[in-house]
Amino acid sequence: MRAPRSVLITGASSGIGAALAVEYAAPGVRLALCGRDPDRIGAVAESCRAKGAAPAARVLDVTDEANVAAWIDEVDDAAPLDLVIANAGVAGSRFGAGEGDAAVRRLFAVNVDGVVNTVLPALARMRARRRGQIAIMSSLAAFRGFPGAPAYSASKAAVRAWGEALRGRHARDGVEISVICPGFVVSRMTADNPFPMPMLMSAERAAGIVRRGLTRNRGRIAFPWPMYALVRLVAALPDRMIDPIMRRLPEKE
Ligand SMILES: NC(=O)c1ccc[n+]([C@@H]2O[C@H](COP(=O)([O-])OP(=O)(O)OC[C@H]3O[C@@H](n4cnc5c(N)ncnc54)[C@H](OP(=O)(O)O)[C@@H]3O)[C@@H](O)[C@H]2O)c1
Repeated sequence: MRAPRSVLITGASSGIGAALAVEYAAPGVRLALCGRDPDRIGAVAESCRAKGAAPAARVLDVTDEANVAAWIDEVDDAAPLDLVIANAGVAGSRFGAGEGDAAVRRLFAVNVDGVVNTVLPALARMRARRRGQIAIMSSLAAFRGFPGAPAYSASKAAVRAWGEALRGRHARDGVEISVICPGFVVSRMTADNPFPMPMLMSAERAAGIVRRGLTRNRGRIAFPWPMYALVRLVAALPDRMIDPIMRRLPEKE
């Protein structure tokens, strides 16, 4: 997808999603943006408007299947979507209980069900017209279960595998599907991480990398590359070598 004119982004009210909204904002570009906080999503829409785009902010929880589908249909009816970015996500610490039982269920609901709720209605529309692009926000945490964030790693692994499989399945339908796997990015999600975050980058820089990857229709947009290489190595090592290291990794809380 070279220069999308109709773009929908979930979780656009802060961090990477907000930076992506601003990255795609330009005269003539329609942006459908969602988040749960009206002030935050409104402020991001204003920033996009200042760049000449036509943003429409929606207060929406991605776990609400019916409302997400209705929103996507409404936006797509008004201007057929060129690009949908299923970005909304949460990490355990957001719930104040790390990955306690309730937090684990909520995390899967947002990070997995929320992505499914976004992708399925968009995919149906794009397949019908044989055109469109979908990006799924995963993480470098998807390549290995990390003891500090078990449910988070698992949720990101699920959507990564799903997205990569959908890419092959729907290539002949004219729909481009990519999976985004960032390392550490400055956002509300990482703001209170009490441990060093190697190669931490700004959300703006991450958004630029994502956009370039999507423009080239890359299947997996994983960055920064040294961190990507490291997680691939960690995932490939035998348990007896990696378990002692994994047990010493810090937790989010
Ligand atoms: N930061 C990193 O280091 C990093 C690395 C790899 C992957 N990621 C992924 O990148 C994505 C964005 O995270 P971020 O780092 O930018 O964190 P963030 O600043 O906390 O942004 C998360 C976004 O998702 C929205 N959101 C959360 N739950 C939602 C729900 N139920 N319904 C609708 N929107 C919801 C939030 O908006 P409201 O709170 O207003 O609803 C916010 O806009 C996530 O999927 C995350 O897992 C982040």
